[in-house]
Amino acid sequence: MQIVHTAAALRTALADTEHSACVPTMGNLHAGHVSLVELAKRHGAPVVASIFVNPLQFGAGEDFERYPRTLDADCARLAAAGCDLVFAPDVTEMYPVPQRYTVAVPSAMANDLCGAFRPGHFNGVATVVLKLFNLIRPRIAVFGKKDFQQLHVIRELVRQFNLPIEILAGDTLREADGLAMSSRNGYLSPAERIQATQLHRALEDVGAAVERGARDFDTLAATAARHLKMTGWRVDYVAVRDTGTLAVPKPDSTRLIVLGAATLGTTRLIDNIEVSLKA
Ligand code: PAJ
Repeated sequence: MQIVHTAAALRTALADTEHSACVPTMGNLHAGHVSLVELAKRHGAPVVASIFVNPLQFGAGEDFERYPRTLDADCARLAAAGCDLVFAPDVTEMYPVPQRYTVAVPSAMANDLCGAFRPGHFNGVATVVLKLFNLIRPRIAVFGKKDFQQLHVIRELVRQFNLPIEILAGDTLREADGLAMSSRNGYLSPAERIQATQLHRALEDVGAAVERGARDFDTLAATAARHLKMTGWRVDYVAVRDTGTLAVPKPDSTRLIVLGAATLGTTRLIDNIEVSLKA
């Protein structure tokens, strides 16, 4: 596995390749990331993973500085997973001049769900992903459903700018107790780690009620949020949405998704579960 840090070295390494599959990451890799590399390997070659903690997508007071940087361990994991190439630029390589041209995600999406609590976040994600796509020029790119709104934003980015890239979505990998794997789980204290499964369980409860026929989504979501708050969470949102549009479900929506974001101590966690309704 080759590791490159500059755009020039990346270009040389990828000369003559036409079917590459890329997996953009911010590093501190876990089994969820590895599963995306495995999915990429089944669809394209070479597989290119990027590791870049993107300052543009972090807000003031967020965890950009303390975000774990573990390049050596990440590269070992990627090599074991059969990744072919790692692109790990530093900030000046990605942003040699201040990024004045940025992708403006439509405000209805940029300011919805997580965007309402992380102003500018999705513009920062879309901008860096567009830059990574232009640098790597992949045929296929793989993203996780764990960050479902991000996946939606990237699908729209590809569609609206006619990018010749197929987006594949990987399922969320979970710990044995149901907690979605996340680089941010490492911030949790042992007590918080035990409590952290409550977010997933709250979303599952909403999903189960919807599967049983409940349709007052706002009440279900508010009840789940209240339960989380009672046990010490700060809840940004719990919401039931249409899986395809991420909009508020229509009466004939058959694919629904329950999404939630909440903070334990200083750690903000997100999760979601999909619910299929019988027609
Ligand atoms: P990061 O948080 O490192 O995630 C990289 C990819 O791994 C994303 O597509 C994310 O959805 C996926 N992922 C995270 N946890 C997962 C899990 N438990 N199971 C399966 N996949 C999981 O998302 C980002 O980085 C950045 O925003 C990025 C897209 C790289 C742009 O900077």
